Amino acid sequence: MIAKHAEQKGNNLRALHPLLSVTDLNVRFATEEGEVTAMNALTFTVEQGETLGIVGESGSGKSQTAFALMGLLAANGQASGSARFMGHEILNLPEKSLNRLRAKEIAMIFQDPMTSLNPYMRVGEQLMEVLMFHQGCSRSEAFDGAVNMLDAVRMPEARQRMKMYPHEFSGGMRQRVMIAMALLCQPKLLIADEPTTALDVTVQAQMMMLLADLKREFNTSIIMITHDLGVVAGICDKVLVMYAGRTMEYGSARDVFYRPSHPYSVGLLNAVPRLDVSDETLATIPGNPPNLLHLPQGCPFLPRCPYAMERCKEVPALTSFDAGRMRACFRAVEEVL
Ligand SMILES: Nc1ncnc2c1ncn2[C@@H]1O[C@H](COP(=O)(O)OP(=O)(O)OP(=O)(O)O)[C@@H](O)[C@H]1O
Ligand SMILES: [Mg+2]
Repeated sequence: MIAKHAEQKGNNLRALHPLLSVTDLNVRFATEEGEVTAMNALTFTVEQGETLGIVGESGSGKSQTAFALMGLLAANGQASGSARFMGHEILNLPEKSLNRLRAKEIAMIFQDPMTSLNPYMRVGEQLMEVLMFHQGCSRSEAFDGAVNMLDAVRMPEARQRMKMYPHEFSGGMRQRVMIAMALLCQPKLLIADEPTTALDVTVQAQMMMLLADLKREFNTSIIMITHDLGVVAGICDKVLVMYAGRTMEYGSARDVFYRPSHPYSVGLLNAVPRLDVSDETLATIPGNPPNLLHLPQGCPFLPRCPYAMERCKEVPALTSFDAGRMRACFRAVEEVL
């Protein structure tokens, strides 16, 4: 009933607004050593049924972007700017409205599944609790709903596994439980934060295919956070490449993967393992991401960039080029690659 109402509401609003529209999102952390700007003027949209990939190395600000949207920043963090979800501002909402939003409209799969599963409670009970608490289901309705969702995430012997505890599941199976839990209330938007990092490559691939299937089945929009541009190419429609809290480039997954326009994207692409090349040594980007307290002057990628020039000591503005693409680099697009 609630889901139906939300669907109707979604249909009415779709023509007017993107599902999520983030404009000039900034996140600052107050630390003993000074203020850290973890995110700087981030701007992107997610349409209904679309998958956006947010890609970047460790520390680039991917998780904090999700946390800012979900109202989960640490106490020393402050978000500013705008994030409109179905036309309504959601940044810095009061806790009560956030709880409603998190339960029914936006769900998140966290990097570490054990942080969101209670180790002392049977998996079935945890899933049923969501349905009873948020959807007002009876115990037997919740039981059926939980089994159906475990089936939907291709959990073998779903009914028997309802009785098991999280530690009795393998890493991949635990991820499936997390995905099931996130989808139980049929959210409009699913934020999946690097859900495959702890898994081996085969399981990772299965998980990605599963998310792509579920997106079609439930018409859920997805924000997929990962450091792997290869993952993005497989399942995303659009990609935002982040570095030191800034957008390096933004465009369709196809464009970014086949015609990257930023030296940082090129570096990330060279680090993607390829199945067609055996015995390959992966090219990593030399150097490390900067300490946000001591950012270099100008473009944050400057010290690691093979294309750097004198002008890069200024910060390049994010500018549009081609249809729907943006980049922050002084080099001409044709020079990069
Ligand atoms: N409470 C905090 N106080 C100060 N700085 C913080 C705080 N939380 C996060 N940061 C900083 O914000 C930056 C972005 O962190 P974030 O967790 O978003 O990175 P990430 O891109 O998700 O990395 P990973 O791939 O390792 O998960 C990091 O440099 C981190 O040190
Ligand atoms: Mg993270």
